[in-house]
Amino acid sequence: MKAVRLHEIGGPANAGLDEVPQPQPSQRETLVRVRAAALNHRDVFITQGLYPNIKLPCILGADGAGEANGNAVVIDPAMGWGEDERVWRPDSSILGVPRDGTFAQYVAVPAGNVHAKPAHLSMEEAATIPLAGVTAYRAVFTRGELRVGETVLITGIGGGVQTFALLYAKAAGARVIVTSSSDEKLQRAKDLGADLTLNYRTDAEWHKAARKAGGPIDLAIDSAGGETFARILGLVRPGGRVVTYGGTAGDAKIKMFPVFWNQLDIRGTSMGSPADFRAMLEFISEHRIKPVIDRVYDVSEIVPAMERMQDAAQFGKIVLRLP
Ligand SMILES: NC(=O)c1ccc[n+]([C@@H]2O[C@H](COP(=O)([O-])OP(=O)(O)OC[C@H]3O[C@@H](n4cnc5c(N)ncnc54)[C@H](OP(=O)(O)O)[C@@H]3O)[C@@H](O)[C@H]2O)c1
Repeated sequence: MKAVRLHEIGGPANAGLDEVPQPQPSQRETLVRVRAAALNHRDVFITQGLYPNIKLPCILGADGAGEANGNAVVIDPAMGWGEDERVWRPDSSILGVPRDGTFAQYVAVPAGNVHAKPAHLSMEEAATIPLAGVTAYRAVFTRGELRVGETVLITGIGGGVQTFALLYAKAAGARVIVTSSSDEKLQRAKDLGADLTLNYRTDAEWHKAARKAGGPIDLAIDSAGGETFARILGLVRPGGRVVTYGGTAGDAKIKMFPVFWNQLDIRGTSMGSPADFRAMLEFISEHRIKPVIDRVYDVSEIVPAMERMQDAAQFGKIVLRLP
């Protein structure tokens, strides 16, 4: 079969399409014929050597949709979450490093990780859901506890997780404020229902504009970290919630006063449990959520596809089509 493998650490250019043996599923596994896969920043970070347990060469990819046992399916990429809904087990892992991933014509996964594809979505749309969709679902609902009529701030709206968070929050009846480095992305977010848009690149004081025009912010969802995270602590209302799932811009140096004086609730989150995954698929079907696809590439174009993500040029999810 054809598969995208990383041969050496050093960036997306070291990934290439190879001919490799088809995986042989164990009794507990299901063999999925992958029709479409999607990129996450994780895949790019892996090419840069920023993840532990990388054994080379490895097949990349956490997101995938395809066919298994005659059914159209999507794959839950979280392996071995465990019994505790609050947190995954320390030895749990994600599809696509350490185990072989979805940028391949076939992937073998535990049978419990294979779910029916939402009927209203194409294979390419469904392939965008797994990692980003469940991370956003847990950030917005399970951890963020977003309620109807609340205001939520989502930073860096171009990202895959962030676009899902916007779609979910609007479907749940929230008011949504978003930030981005690009006016074009902000316009696209507006078209998807964002109520207030702020450019953090051209407006160094965007947080002041958010405070003035945004009204009380009940929940902030962030994966930028760095100065962005420090600023949002001063933006959420007293008693508000801040959910973090990443640190794209690095670590944050935070002011302690607003955290304790305003009795903020800072919550970490990562991906989602099997229960989150099932609830997310139901929510997507019930609200007929259409994921935001940035571009679809043939799997042979893996290097430009990953470079687009590395350059943060995308709005929404970058998809790979498998032959
Ligand atoms: N913990 C988890 O389970 C989990 C799961 C998925 C992702 N993540 C993490 O979440 C982050 C995003 O992942 P992704 O796959 O969605 O990546 P992505 O699609 O590449 O999104 C990155 C986006 O972050 C925004 N950004 C970058 N620097 C920023 C800054 N200083 N302030 C505000 N926004 C900034 C940019 O938005 P604009 O282009 O709009 O400016 C960029 O497009 C990564 O750090 C990733 O590792 C964590």
